[in-house]
Amino acid sequence: MTDKRIIIDYIEYSSLEEMEPMDRELALAALDARGGSYSPYSKFRVGAALRLEDGTIVKGANQENNAYPSGLCAERTAMFAAGANHPGVAFDTLAVAGGNGDTVCEMPAAPCGACRQVMAEYQRLYGKPLKIILIGTHSIYKFSKVEDILPLIFDSLVVE
Ligand code: THU
Repeated sequence: MTDKRIIIDYIEYSSLEEMEPMDRELALAALDARGGSYSPYSKFRVGAALRLEDGTIVKGANQENNAYPSGLCAERTAMFAAGANHPGVAFDTLAVAGGNGDTVCEMPAAPCGACRQVMAEYQRLYGKPLKIILIGTHSIYKFSKVEDILPLIFDSLVVE
């Protein structure tokens, strides 16, 4: 038996101003994308902005449904839109911002497990690390790859 530990490195910013200009632009796009949230049931508005390797920014926002499981998170809305409209163009960075109504959470709202699994799939598909930026008003986190928010990723292609 061996005790093991997984250590995750990430950057914490205390404001948008501290960020690299391209990351700040993407963060602002994620905040703006919240305007497209359709969330009459939870009132929790989530925006996502995905930068592709060619510089294109694809936005998404959570879309709810009266049949609750039919709704979709902001992150997957953005990733599936990118996959459908820009096939073959690798994902570079995904920024996410969420909060109740018009407010944004103080601490970053973290993506659900299903969205993390979808991030992992596209990261593997394109063979390039997908960076993730989680935005709160007091803290902003930046991760350099999906493994950092989803350790021990399920992947049937590597499970024997
Ligand atoms: N939501 C997202 O858009 N992204 C996540 O990663 C977690 C949750 C949405 C789903 C639902 O519309 C609302 O937030 C409340 O759960």
